[in-house]
Amino acid sequence: MTSSSLTSSTSIPDEIAQKLRAAQHIAVMTGAGVSAESGIATFRDALTGLWANFKAEDLATPQAFVRDPALVWGWYEWRRAQVMQTQPNAGHIALAAMARQVPQLTLITQNVDDLHERAGSSAVLHLHGSILAARCFDCGFPYQHRASLQQDHAKLAPPVCPECGGAVRPGVVWFGENLPHDVWQEAERAVRECDVLIIAGTSGVVYPAAGLAELAFRKRKTIIQINPQATNQDKFASLVMTGPSGVCLPQLLAAAWPELR
Ligand code: OAD
Repeated sequence: MTSSSLTSSTSIPDEIAQKLRAAQHIAVMTGAGVSAESGIATFRDALTGLWANFKAEDLATPQAFVRDPALVWGWYEWRRAQVMQTQPNAGHIALAAMARQVPQLTLITQNVDDLHERAGSSAVLHLHGSILAARCFDCGFPYQHRASLQQDHAKLAPPVCPECGGAVRPGVVWFGENLPHDVWQEAERAVRECDVLIIAGTSGVVYPAAGLAELAFRKRKTIIQINPQATNQDKFASLVMTGPSGVCLPQLLAAAWPELR
């Protein structure tokens, strides 16, 4: 298949629409960009990205939590409140609808929000955990957390583990930590077995997640890449859609299943 690129306003090549429609198994990998139109900040967009305004090493590593648990917990409480106050957008909704059209759709996300689930997707593979979950930093005991809904990132002491007295931490994967083993295995298997891989809203710079695009390319999968910006994953794609996922994903759905329009 020849590589092509289009803006979000042009039509999808028939060959791609047919591949999607005939697929037995579609794998999808999403990143922060898919939740951007819901109002959740991405990490690396210039000016608005979280890592443009905060230092990852102060907030998203185990060492940072040990150094200043209240700083880290307060920041995640603020982000948790943002997630709880947003709604799924047209991109999340299109993926849930696509899953109803194919025998199998595996949705892999780097996102720690629950917007895919709230849009109707099930069995989502969360490579980087969930911001709505919490567990003890010391003993790992799951903690039933009730978000404080704080509207800023002020310091807040984390709850105390009822089992061991340790500090409770957010249920996300931090830099330097391993991905949940079973989730990663399932994601890799889905990419190996799928007919089409859709990648949406990720800068493709954080490994091992970013390696899934390379794996699909080596396996000669049809890859559809969706992002308003160029990324280093474009070179793997059979189709690059240059636009927001809230526009491009509904376009893909409508091209492959026009009866849903
Ligand atoms: P990034 O912030 O690195 O990348 C977001 C991507 O979304 C960028 O390439 C944007 O161009 C694109 N984007 C922005 N708006 C978009 C829209 N409306 N539609 C589609 N794309 C849009 O976020 P991730 O790639 O998800 O890790 O980052 C990967 C990981 O790095 C995150 O999971 C997080 C972070 O540190 C952990 O928390 C462990």
